[in-house]
Amino acid sequence: MHDKIKAYIDNNKDRFIDELKDLLRIPSVSADPEFKDDVFEAAEFIKLRLEEAGAENVEVCPTAGYPIVYGEKMVDPAKPTVLVYGHYDVQPADPYELWTSPPFEPVIKDGKIYARGACDDKGQMYMHVKAFEFMMKNGSLPCNVKFMIEGEEEVGSANLGTYIRENKEKLKADVILISDTSMLGVENPSITVGLRGLAYLEVEVTGPNRDLHSGVYGGAVANPINILAKMIASLQDDNGKITIPGFYDDVLAVPAKEQEAMKKIPFDLEEYKNHLDIKAIGGEQEFSVYEKTSVRPTLDVNGIWGGYIGEGAKTVLPSKASAKISMRLVPNQQSDKISKLFEAHFKSIAPDTVKVKVTPHHGGEPVVVPVDLIEYQAASKAYETSFGKTPIPVRSGGSIPIVALFEDVLGLKSIMMGFGLDSDAIHSPNESFGVFNFLKGIETIPLFFENYASMKS
Ligand code: BES
Ligand code: MN
Ligand code: MN
Repeated sequence: MHDKIKAYIDNNKDRFIDELKDLLRIPSVSADPEFKDDVFEAAEFIKLRLEEAGAENVEVCPTAGYPIVYGEKMVDPAKPTVLVYGHYDVQPADPYELWTSPPFEPVIKDGKIYARGACDDKGQMYMHVKAFEFMMKNGSLPCNVKFMIEGEEEVGSANLGTYIRENKEKLKADVILISDTSMLGVENPSITVGLRGLAYLEVEVTGPNRDLHSGVYGGAVANPINILAKMIASLQDDNGKITIPGFYDDVLAVPAKEQEAMKKIPFDLEEYKNHLDIKAIGGEQEFSVYEKTSVRPTLDVNGIWGGYIGEGAKTVLPSKASAKISMRLVPNQQSDKISKLFEAHFKSIAPDTVKVKVTPHHGGEPVVVPVDLIEYQAASKAYETSFGKTPIPVRSGGSIPIVALFEDVLGLKSIMMGFGLDSDAIHSPNESFGVFNFLKGIETIPLFFENYASMKS
């Protein structure tokens, strides 16, 4: 089988890449209503490609938001079923001026495909469509497969929960397979076994009822931007510890075995710093970069605004100041609980000079995947074959909130075979995905199916 998939990729890789480029040309930005038609078009594109590859009962299922593309190939009801999840929506491409080539005109440079969504998640999702095409053409699909590709992941998957609750029977499966994360490197393949949760809030601090002359009123009337800055600064101590009372109460200790394993994860600090052009690493000094970005919770300001930000100088004491704040959560913290703790604390630290409004946005729960599952073992063996190396299980710092819901609602574990690299610049200008990674993913996926079907029966 391994030789056959390699030969198939060799013979078809140019077409695979061309098809992916076609998909990348559709600016399916879910956050911006200006791209509404394009998001729908991307769904139709996936539907067609799934049908061409041999999927049956393919439909574009409407939701209150963007549709979910469903398709399946049932070979034998007695055999296990793999449910593939991915997303066809992408993040906004702004700021456009920082792209070296336009975000929706994919180009290949230095072995990488550059475009918004190249890695997150169009390129990674499309690997599954092509791996499935191979298994169909080669007559080697060893078990049932279902596809569920959504269009609202980048805006919090608001309608996917309802969809899975209403379609439990249709989505019946044995495991979920996702490629929407990264790996350590092509020399150090890894499988994602953890995701952080998320609590995201917006805060607004209001001082006087209108913008004021900063000379006439400054000194007596508190400035909401100054106050907001101080309040935000107080949310972390000098060692990066979050000061919200109760914030760490539910954090589970990392098992000793995993602690040991973490120390062996290859990491080049100098390269990391050089890549980001930073002189030093921040955060809790007693933790490694890996720990800080995976097993430790965080609090970050994602945006802050208020007052005058136009050309030149305007002497103004603003009426309002706002910020968007996200907290990444680790097992067994709960998004709702943390949001409430944040809100209560943030209001409690506000001085009498201002009013504070806190509005929660989307959230999600953290997940961990046990490595002793046969599903994980099947994935691990697949990488051994395709990369010639045993993959390292790693927890990722990112969030895919729907993964916890899959476990809750469908009772299914997710295997996260991510082939991206941290240097792919997902969500940033000049996002890319290595052609090698794209093809390696297509090569590894059928091996997972083969291992899983035989281990499961
Ligand atoms: N694919 C990413 C999540 C990700 C990236 C996980 C890299 C692990 C490694 C996903 O599309 C994403 O961007 N998720 C958002 C959360 C969502 C609610 C908008 C995130 O992590 O910020
Ligand atoms: Mn993604
Ligand atoms: Mn994303």
